Amino acid sequence: MKTFMTTTALSVAGAAVLAMGISEQSLAQSAVQEATDELLALGEKTYMRECVACHGAEGDGEGPGKYILSEKPRNFQLATYKFRSTPSGDVPLPEDLFKTITNGLQGNGAAMPAFASLSEDERWGLVHYIIQLGGIEDEEPEAIEVPAEPEITEARLANGADVYNRLKCATCHGDDGWGDGPSSLTLKNDAKEQVYPTNIAIGIFKGGTSGVELYKRIATGLDGSPMPSYADEASPDEIWDVVHYTLSLVEK
Ligand code: HEC
Ligand code: HEC
Repeated sequence: MKTFMTTTALSVAGAAVLAMGISEQSLAQSAVQEATDELLALGEKTYMRECVACHGAEGDGEGPGKYILSEKPRNFQLATYKFRSTPSGDVPLPEDLFKTITNGLQGNGAAMPAFASLSEDERWGLVHYIIQLGGIEDEEPEAIEVPAEPEITEARLANGADVYNRLKCATCHGDDGWGDGPSSLTLKNDAKEQVYPTNIAIGIFKGGTSGVELYKRIATGLDGSPMPSYADEASPDEIWDVVHYTLSLVEK
Protein backbone atom coordinates (compact mmCIF):
# COMPACT_ATOMS: atom_id res chain seq x y z
CA MET A 1 0.00 0.00 0.00
CA LYS A 2 2.82 2.34 0.92
CA THR A 3 4.53 1.80 -2.45
CA PHE A 4 1.26 2.38 -4.24
CA MET A 5 0.76 5.69 -2.46
CA THR A 6 4.28 6.82 -3.30
CA THR A 7 3.90 5.98 -6.99
CA THR A 8 0.56 7.72 -7.15
CA ALA A 9 1.91 10.79 -5.40
CA LEU A 10 4.77 10.87 -7.91
CA SER A 11 2.46 10.65 -10.88
CA VAL A 12 0.26 13.38 -9.41
CA ALA A 13 3.32 15.62 -9.24
CA GLY A 14 4.42 14.61 -12.76
CA ALA A 15 1.02 15.27 -14.25
CA ALA A 16 0.89 18.64 -12.51
CA VAL A 17 4.24 19.69 -14.00
CA LEU A 18 3.18 18.59 -17.47
CA ALA A 19 -0.24 20.18 -17.14
CA MET A 20 1.49 23.47 -16.49
CA GLY A 21 2.87 23.03 -19.98
CA ILE A 22 6.61 22.42 -19.66
CA SER A 23 7.29 22.12 -23.33
CA GLU A 24 4.37 24.09 -24.73
CA GLN A 25 5.92 26.04 -27.56
CA SER A 26 5.13 29.65 -28.22
CA LEU A 27 1.41 29.84 -27.62
CA ALA A 28 0.86 31.31 -31.03
CA GLN A 29 -1.42 34.01 -29.77
CA SER A 30 -2.19 36.66 -32.27
CA ALA A 31 -5.44 38.45 -33.07
CA VAL A 32 -7.21 36.93 -36.09
CA GLN A 33 -6.65 38.92 -39.26
CA GLU A 34 -9.41 39.22 -41.85
CA ALA A 35 -8.99 37.71 -45.32
CA THR A 36 -8.30 40.77 -47.49
CA ASP A 37 -7.14 40.38 -51.13
CA GLU A 38 -3.75 41.68 -50.08
CA LEU A 39 -3.37 39.14 -47.27
CA LEU A 40 -4.49 36.29 -49.56
CA ALA A 41 -1.91 37.30 -52.16
CA LEU A 42 0.78 37.31 -49.46
CA GLY A 43 -0.50 33.90 -48.30
CA GLU A 44 -0.26 32.44 -51.80
CA LYS A 45 3.24 33.79 -52.31
CA THR A 46 4.39 32.40 -48.95
CA TYR A 47 2.68 29.07 -49.64
CA MET A 48 4.50 28.69 -52.97
CA ARG A 49 7.81 29.32 -51.22
CA GLU A 50 7.39 27.36 -47.96
CA CYS A 51 4.68 24.70 -48.31
CA VAL A 52 4.57 23.32 -51.90
CA ALA A 53 7.42 20.85 -51.37
CA CYS A 54 5.18 18.80 -49.09
CA HIS A 55 1.59 19.97 -49.61
CA GLY A 56 1.82 20.38 -53.42
CA ALA A 57 1.08 23.37 -55.67
CA GLU A 58 -2.65 22.53 -55.69
CA GLY A 59 -2.73 21.87 -51.95
CA ASP A 60 -3.56 18.22 -52.55
CA GLY A 61 -0.74 16.88 -50.37
CA GLU A 62 1.12 15.55 -53.42
CA GLY A 63 4.35 17.54 -53.10
CA PRO A 64 7.63 15.76 -53.97
CA GLY A 65 8.53 15.62 -50.27
CA LYS A 66 5.64 13.31 -49.42
CA TYR A 67 7.78 10.23 -50.03
CA ILE A 68 10.15 10.99 -47.19
CA LEU A 69 7.35 11.23 -44.65
CA SER A 70 5.57 8.33 -42.94
CA GLU A 71 2.55 10.52 -42.18
CA LYS A 72 1.47 12.13 -45.47
CA PRO A 73 1.11 15.93 -45.76
CA ARG A 74 -2.49 17.15 -45.45
CA ASN A 75 -4.63 17.48 -48.57
CA PHE A 76 -6.07 20.95 -48.02
CA GLN A 77 -8.72 20.42 -50.70
CA LEU A 78 -10.49 17.96 -48.39
CA ALA A 79 -10.47 20.43 -45.46
CA THR A 80 -10.32 17.64 -42.86
CA TYR A 81 -8.21 18.72 -39.90
CA LYS A 82 -6.93 16.90 -36.83
CA PHE A 83 -6.04 19.75 -34.50
CA ARG A 84 -9.18 21.71 -33.82
CA SER A 85 -11.02 23.56 -31.09
CA THR A 86 -14.26 22.67 -32.87
CA PRO A 87 -16.51 19.57 -32.67
CA SER A 88 -15.75 16.44 -34.68
CA GLY A 89 -16.66 16.93 -38.33
CA ASP A 90 -16.43 20.74 -38.18
CA VAL A 91 -13.79 22.88 -39.85
CA PRO A 92 -11.10 24.31 -37.56
CA LEU A 93 -10.96 27.87 -36.26
CA PRO A 94 -8.53 30.12 -38.14
CA GLU A 95 -6.63 30.26 -34.81
CA ASP A 96 -6.18 26.46 -34.87
CA LEU A 97 -4.52 26.64 -38.30
CA PHE A 98 -2.39 29.59 -37.21
CA LYS A 99 -1.16 27.55 -34.24
CA THR A 100 -0.29 24.51 -36.40
CA ILE A 101 1.63 26.70 -38.86
CA THR A 102 3.46 28.51 -36.04
CA ASN A 103 4.41 25.41 -34.02
CA GLY A 104 4.66 22.76 -36.77
CA LEU A 105 3.83 19.11 -36.08
CA GLN A 106 6.27 16.77 -34.39
CA GLY A 107 6.10 13.17 -33.27
CA ASN A 108 4.28 9.98 -34.33
CA GLY A 109 5.41 9.97 -37.95
CA ALA A 110 4.92 13.70 -38.61
CA ALA A 111 7.70 16.05 -39.56
CA MET A 112 6.30 19.44 -40.36
CA PRO A 113 8.67 22.27 -39.43
CA ALA A 114 7.56 25.18 -37.26
CA PHE A 115 7.06 28.45 -39.15
CA ALA A 116 7.25 30.82 -36.19
CA SER A 117 9.95 32.75 -38.03
CA LEU A 118 7.49 33.90 -40.70
CA SER A 119 5.84 37.26 -39.97
CA GLU A 120 2.34 37.21 -38.46
CA ASP A 121 0.97 38.67 -41.71
CA GLU A 122 2.54 35.83 -43.69
CA ARG A 123 1.07 33.22 -41.31
CA TRP A 124 -2.43 34.75 -41.38
CA GLY A 125 -2.13 34.95 -45.16
CA LEU A 126 -1.32 31.21 -45.21
CA VAL A 127 -4.29 30.45 -42.94
CA HIS A 128 -6.71 32.17 -45.34
CA TYR A 129 -5.01 30.73 -48.41
CA ILE A 130 -5.45 27.13 -47.21
CA ILE A 131 -9.01 27.87 -46.02
CA GLN A 132 -9.70 28.96 -49.61
CA LEU A 133 -8.02 25.84 -51.06
CA GLY A 134 -10.57 23.83 -49.07
CA GLY A 135 -13.50 26.04 -50.12
CA ILE A 136 -14.52 26.54 -46.48
CA GLU A 137 -14.26 30.33 -46.31
CA ASP A 138 -18.01 30.73 -45.71
CA GLU A 139 -18.17 28.35 -42.73
CA GLU A 140 -18.51 29.83 -39.26
CA PRO A 141 -16.87 27.33 -36.93
CA GLU A 142 -17.43 27.62 -33.18
CA ALA A 143 -15.10 26.40 -30.47
CA ILE A 144 -16.23 23.81 -27.94
CA GLU A 145 -16.42 24.89 -24.33
CA VAL A 146 -13.42 23.80 -22.29
CA PRO A 147 -14.20 24.11 -18.57
CA ALA A 148 -11.47 25.50 -16.30
CA GLU A 149 -8.76 22.94 -15.58
CA PRO A 150 -9.47 21.27 -12.22
CA GLU A 151 -6.81 20.55 -9.64
CA ILE A 152 -5.18 17.13 -9.90
CA THR A 153 -5.90 14.96 -6.87
CA GLU A 154 -5.18 11.28 -6.27
CA ALA A 155 -8.90 10.50 -6.33
CA ARG A 156 -9.38 12.26 -9.65
CA LEU A 157 -6.30 10.60 -11.15
CA ALA A 158 -7.68 7.20 -10.07
CA ASN A 159 -10.98 8.14 -11.73
CA GLY A 160 -8.99 9.07 -14.86
CA ALA A 161 -7.55 5.54 -14.91
CA ASP A 162 -11.10 4.14 -14.72
CA VAL A 163 -12.23 6.39 -17.57
CA TYR A 164 -9.16 5.31 -19.66
CA ASN A 165 -10.34 1.71 -19.16
CA ARG A 166 -14.03 2.35 -19.74
CA LEU A 167 -13.38 4.30 -22.97
CA LYS A 168 -10.96 1.58 -24.10
CA CYS A 169 -8.09 3.95 -24.85
CA ALA A 170 -5.78 0.98 -24.21
CA THR A 171 -7.15 -0.87 -27.26
CA CYS A 172 -4.99 1.43 -29.32
CA HIS A 173 -2.60 3.18 -26.92
CA GLY A 174 -1.88 0.20 -24.65
CA ASP A 175 -2.25 -0.13 -20.86
CA ASP A 176 0.90 1.90 -20.19
CA GLY A 177 0.37 4.30 -23.11
CA TRP A 178 3.19 2.83 -25.20
CA GLY A 179 1.07 2.80 -28.37
CA ASP A 180 1.08 -1.01 -28.33
CA GLY A 181 -2.59 -1.90 -27.74
CA PRO A 182 -4.16 -4.94 -29.47
CA SER A 183 -5.52 -2.76 -32.34
CA SER A 184 -2.34 -0.75 -32.81
CA LEU A 185 -1.14 -2.52 -35.96
CA THR A 186 -4.53 -2.55 -37.69
CA LEU A 187 -5.42 1.15 -37.92
CA LYS A 188 -6.00 3.09 -41.14
CA ASN A 189 -6.73 6.77 -41.71
CA ASP A 190 -9.44 8.13 -44.04
CA ALA A 191 -7.01 7.82 -46.98
CA LYS A 192 -6.67 4.07 -46.12
CA GLU A 193 -3.02 4.45 -45.17
CA GLN A 194 -1.76 2.52 -42.16
CA VAL A 195 -1.19 4.78 -39.14
CA TYR A 196 -0.15 4.12 -35.56
CA PRO A 197 -1.44 5.28 -32.20
CA THR A 198 0.74 7.81 -30.40
CA ASN A 199 3.20 6.41 -27.87
CA ILE A 200 1.96 8.54 -24.98
CA ALA A 201 4.92 7.61 -22.76
CA ILE A 202 7.26 9.64 -25.03
CA GLY A 203 5.27 12.78 -24.25
CA ILE A 204 5.45 14.46 -27.68
CA PHE A 205 1.99 15.42 -28.88
CA LYS A 206 1.44 17.02 -32.27
CA GLY A 207 -1.23 19.38 -31.01
CA GLY A 208 0.67 20.43 -27.85
CA THR A 209 1.13 19.00 -24.36
CA SER A 210 -0.94 21.38 -22.24
CA GLY A 211 -4.03 20.09 -20.44
CA VAL A 212 -6.30 22.34 -22.50
CA GLU A 213 -4.90 21.02 -25.80
CA LEU A 214 -5.30 17.38 -24.71
CA TYR A 215 -8.84 18.15 -23.55
CA LYS A 216 -9.63 19.37 -27.08
CA ARG A 217 -8.02 16.27 -28.69
CA ILE A 218 -10.02 13.85 -26.55
CA ALA A 219 -13.29 15.80 -26.71
CA THR A 220 -13.17 16.47 -30.47
CA GLY A 221 -11.05 13.60 -31.85
CA LEU A 222 -8.48 13.84 -34.63
CA ASP A 223 -10.62 14.01 -37.77
CA GLY A 224 -9.28 11.89 -40.63
CA SER A 225 -7.42 9.62 -38.18
CA PRO A 226 -8.76 6.63 -36.20
CA MET A 227 -8.65 8.64 -32.94
CA PRO A 228 -12.33 9.22 -32.13
CA SER A 229 -14.14 12.07 -30.36
CA TYR A 230 -15.35 11.29 -26.84
CA ALA A 231 -17.65 14.29 -26.33
CA ASP A 232 -20.73 12.03 -26.33
CA GLU A 233 -19.25 9.31 -24.14
CA ALA A 234 -17.65 11.19 -21.28
CA SER A 235 -18.65 14.18 -19.14
CA PRO A 236 -16.37 17.25 -19.05
CA ASP A 237 -15.14 16.15 -15.59
CA GLU A 238 -14.34 12.69 -16.93
CA ILE A 239 -12.50 14.16 -19.90
CA TRP A 240 -10.38 16.29 -17.55
CA ASP A 241 -9.60 13.24 -15.41
CA VAL A 242 -8.54 11.16 -18.39
CA VAL A 243 -6.43 14.09 -19.66
CA HIS A 244 -4.52 14.15 -16.37
CA TYR A 245 -4.25 10.37 -16.30
CA THR A 246 -2.87 10.44 -19.87
CA LEU A 247 -0.27 13.02 -18.84
CA SER A 248 0.69 10.82 -15.86
CA LEU A 249 1.62 8.06 -18.36
CA VAL A 250 4.39 10.24 -19.81
CA GLU A 251 7.70 8.82 -18.62
CA LYS A 252 9.93 11.22 -16.73
C1 HEC B 1 8.43 18.85 -44.65
C2 HEC B 1 7.08 18.75 -45.11
C3 HEC B 1 6.09 19.83 -44.74
C4 HEC B 1 6.17 21.19 -45.00
C5 HEC B 1 7.30 21.96 -45.64
C6 HEC B 1 4.89 21.74 -44.54
N1 HEC B 1 4.10 20.78 -44.03
FE1 HEC B 1 2.22 21.02 -43.28
N2 HEC B 1 2.11 19.04 -42.89
C7 HEC B 1 3.10 18.11 -43.17
C8 HEC B 1 2.66 16.80 -42.75
C9 HEC B 1 3.46 15.50 -42.88
C10 HEC B 1 1.37 16.97 -42.21
C11 HEC B 1 0.47 15.89 -41.64
C12 HEC B 1 0.89 15.56 -40.24
C13 HEC B 1 -0.06 14.65 -39.57
O1 HEC B 1 -1.18 14.45 -40.02
O2 HEC B 1 0.30 14.13 -38.54
C14 HEC B 1 1.05 18.39 -42.32
C15 HEC B 1 -0.15 18.95 -41.91
C16 HEC B 1 -0.47 20.29 -42.01
C17 HEC B 1 -1.71 20.88 -41.55
C18 HEC B 1 -2.88 20.12 -40.95
C19 HEC B 1 -3.04 20.23 -39.45
C20 HEC B 1 -4.29 19.52 -38.98
O3 HEC B 1 -4.94 20.06 -38.08
O4 HEC B 1 -4.65 18.46 -39.49
C21 HEC B 1 -1.64 22.22 -41.83
C22 HEC B 1 -2.68 23.26 -41.53
C23 HEC B 1 -0.36 22.45 -42.47
N3 HEC B 1 0.32 21.26 -42.56
C24 HEC B 1 0.05 23.67 -42.96
C25 HEC B 1 1.28 23.89 -43.58
C26 HEC B 1 1.68 25.15 -44.15
C27 HEC B 1 0.80 26.39 -44.24
C28 HEC B 1 2.96 24.99 -44.60
C29 HEC B 1 3.88 26.02 -45.20
C30 HEC B 1 4.10 27.21 -44.38
C31 HEC B 1 3.34 23.61 -44.33
N4 HEC B 1 2.30 22.98 -43.73
C32 HEC B 1 4.57 23.08 -44.66
C33 HEC B 1 4.32 18.36 -43.76
C34 HEC B 1 4.79 19.59 -44.14
C1 HEC C 1 -9.17 3.35 -32.35
C2 HEC C 1 -7.87 3.66 -31.80
C3 HEC C 1 -7.78 4.77 -30.76
C4 HEC C 1 -8.47 4.91 -29.59
C5 HEC C 1 -9.56 4.01 -29.04
C6 HEC C 1 -7.92 6.08 -28.94
N1 HEC C 1 -6.94 6.63 -29.71
FE1 HEC C 1 -5.78 8.23 -29.20
N2 HEC C 1 -4.91 8.15 -31.03
C7 HEC C 1 -5.09 7.16 -31.97
C8 HEC C 1 -4.25 7.42 -33.10
C9 HEC C 1 -4.14 6.56 -34.36
C10 HEC C 1 -3.53 8.59 -32.80
C11 HEC C 1 -2.46 9.24 -33.66
C12 HEC C 1 -2.99 10.35 -34.48
C13 HEC C 1 -1.89 11.04 -35.23
O1 HEC C 1 -0.74 11.08 -34.79
O2 HEC C 1 -2.20 11.55 -36.29
C14 HEC C 1 -3.96 9.01 -31.48
C15 HEC C 1 -3.48 10.15 -30.84
C16 HEC C 1 -3.70 10.43 -29.49
C17 HEC C 1 -3.03 11.46 -28.75
C18 HEC C 1 -1.99 12.42 -29.29
C19 HEC C 1 -2.59 13.71 -29.81
C20 HEC C 1 -1.55 14.64 -30.40
O3 HEC C 1 -1.71 15.87 -30.26
O4 HEC C 1 -0.58 14.16 -31.00
C21 HEC C 1 -3.49 11.38 -27.46
C22 HEC C 1 -3.05 12.23 -26.30
C23 HEC C 1 -4.48 10.33 -27.42
N3 HEC C 1 -4.60 9.77 -28.68
C24 HEC C 1 -5.18 9.96 -26.30
C25 HEC C 1 -6.23 9.03 -26.30
C26 HEC C 1 -7.09 8.77 -25.17
C27 HEC C 1 -6.95 9.39 -23.80
C28 HEC C 1 -8.01 7.85 -25.59
C29 HEC C 1 -9.20 7.32 -24.83
C30 HEC C 1 -10.10 8.33 -24.27
C31 HEC C 1 -7.69 7.49 -26.96
N4 HEC C 1 -6.61 8.25 -27.36
C32 HEC C 1 -8.36 6.57 -27.72
C33 HEC C 1 -5.96 6.10 -31.87
C34 HEC C 1 -6.83 5.87 -30.83
